[in-house]
Amino acid sequence: MLTRAYQFDLNSSGVAAGEPLLDVSGVSLRFGGIRALSDVSFRMRQGDIHAVIGPNGAGKSSMLNCVSGLYRPQEGRIQLHTVRDGEVGSTDLVTRKPHQIARLGVARSFQNIELFGHLSVLENLMLGRHIHMKHRVLAGMVWFGPARRQEFAHREFVEEVIDLLQLQAHRHAPVGALAYGIQKRVEFGRALCIEPSLLLLDEPMAGMNAEEKEDMARFVLDVNELRGVSVLIIEHDMSVIMDISSHITVLDFGKVIGDGTPTEIAQNDDVIRAYLGDDE
Ligand SMILES: Nc1ncnc2c1ncn2[C@@H]1O[C@H](COP(=O)(O)OP(=O)(O)OP(=O)(O)O)[C@@H](O)[C@H]1O
Ligand SMILES: [Mg+2]
Repeated sequence: MLTRAYQFDLNSSGVAAGEPLLDVSGVSLRFGGIRALSDVSFRMRQGDIHAVIGPNGAGKSSMLNCVSGLYRPQEGRIQLHTVRDGEVGSTDLVTRKPHQIARLGVARSFQNIELFGHLSVLENLMLGRHIHMKHRVLAGMVWFGPARRQEFAHREFVEEVIDLLQLQAHRHAPVGALAYGIQKRVEFGRALCIEPSLLLLDEPMAGMNAEEKEDMARFVLDVNELRGVSVLIIEHDMSVIMDISSHITVLDFGKVIGDGTPTEIAQNDDVIRAYLGDDE
């Protein structure tokens, strides 16, 4: 439950709901002889929870890594559309570095948790605000005037994320000491602290029990519905994906083998074959 209104508008893309937000076209990625992605194309729309699914090794994480700038595909384009001063513009993410892409409002969580285990929940989330900090608050060099006001504003934002994700009880706990499901929630929170318009989630529910998955699914829906954040999500749990996503792209051996609504995907023969194996 939201206990107070967000001060910040998380949908910073400015793109109207239902309009194209991300266009992936002809993306191919190789690691030596391994073709992780072959001519992958799909379109994601503003306001969608768009799932990328597929068997292990299909190229899902690689795709997300290309969007966030961690991997640079040898071919193809990944255009992020934004509206600035009433004009739609697009940026090819393939040529941008991860921090530049984060500044464009694209935030991510990792398949394996990447938090600072010895720092508290609060500190990890404050680090997520770093991208918005003009003064070197975290370095602790100045502690007065604008830096102090800025620290308070960021702190308030972080407290709202803590409320939203029900992390109040863990605020001061070192992240490394928390249960795995809670750590995943903190990682999700840190991505929110970037104030994303597009959130990339790589298996946010992996290793969780049914109740933790349900909580996480609700948080993802809240952020999407209440804050207008578009979500590109990789998840293996098909019942969760069928429940929360508006659109699904299916990868198999680095290729798109299905793209459509959950209902269309559930009836797609190629997808059923990829999941069940050739002998079905
Ligand atoms: N940094 C890398 N170096 C070499 N090969 C890689 C690298 N990243 C991914 N690959 C290879 O690319 C292919 C796709 O891997 P990827 O991790 O994208 O799959 P995935 O769909 O996310 O799988 P999983 O469901 O197991 O997470 C695999 O063959 C993998 O070994
Ligand atoms: Mg993966």
